Formats: sequence, structure tokens, C-alpha cells
Amino acid sequence: MTKTIWKAVAILALPAGLAAMVACTRPADQVTGRGIYQDYCVACHGESGRGDGPAAAGLSKKPADLTRIAARNGGTFPLVKVMSTIDGYTRRNDRGSKMPEMGPFFQEGPTVMVETGPGISTPTPQRLVALAEYLRSLQR
Ligand code: HEC
Repeated sequence: MTKTIWKAVAILALPAGLAAMVACTRPADQVTGRGIYQDYCVACHGESGRGDGPAAAGLSKKPADLTRIAARNGGTFPLVKVMSTIDGYTRRNDRGSKMPEMGPFFQEGPTVMVETGPGISTPTPQRLVALAEYLRSLQR
């Protein structure tokens, strides 16, 4: 009797285990900026990036309009500043920010060299770069 139950448990658990393995071996280059945005940002910042996601109404602070970052910055999209804003939130959670902790997610996967200043290249998580590039594409 107990043996049969364990057999059933094993059969049920197997597909879940395989699915987890497949998820882990998914190549990093399939993780697009748009995909990350859809998964982690859309709830607050909205599909369009204007800060009108379904979770925005419940927040004490309105999510920023991410389509106007360049406009707020004299017409230039501040790529490096945006990346450190997104990443910085992960280390300064005590600032009263409503943004979620993203650090562990970005640290997974490869890094790419990004020019962060004149003649200065910094290894940067490829996912963070992809996400910031996606935000750049939303500017209006
Ligand atoms: C729980 C809601 C929430 C989620 C999820 C969220 N944000 Fe935000 N975001 C905010 C709020 C609220 C602000 C306004 C400032 C603050 O609270 O830190 C903000 C501000 C920002 C800013 C600063 C904009 C500026 O011009 O000052 C950027 C960039 C940003 N978010 C990007 C993102 C990205 C990219 C994601 C997904 C990885 C994300 N946010 C997920 C709520 C959220």
C-alpha cells in the first residue's frame, strides 16, 4: 500500500522536476529586455511604461512614467543612470522605494562591457543592459 503511494508520488513529481530542469537550462540570450519588463515591471509601470499598471493604484508613490525619462533628462536617455537606478534599488531597500529587489535576477547570466564613462568600460549584467535598452525604446 505505502509502496504504491510512493510510486504515485514519484510519477507525479517527475514531470515537475523535468520542467524545472528545462527552465534552468534555457539560454540566457532568450531573456529579452521586453520579456524582463513584462515579468517584473508591468504590474506597476504598465504595458506602455507610463506608470499605469494594475498595481499602481495601491501604491502610496506613483510609479514613474518610464516613457519620459529622456524628456526629463534634456532629451538624452541616460542609459548608465537608468541602469544604476534599477540596480541601485536592490541595495537601498531602506529608502522607502516601492521597487522590488532585482539583484539576484540580474547576477544570473552573462555580463557585457558597457562604457560607463569616457574611456571606462564596466562589466554589466547583460539582463540589466537589455532591460535598460528596452526602456530606451519606449521613449516618446
Ligand atoms: C511595486 C511597483 C514597482 C515595480 C514592480 C517596479 N517599479 Fe519602477 N518605480 C516604482 C515607483 C513607485 C517609482 C517611483 C520612485 C520610487 O518609489 O522609487 C519607480 C521608479 C522607477 C524608475 C525611476 C524613473 C525616473 O525617471 O526617476 C525607473 C527607471 C524604474 N522605476 C524602472 C523599473 C523597472 C525597469 C522595473 C522592473 C524591473 C520596475 N521599475 C519595477 C514602482 C515599481
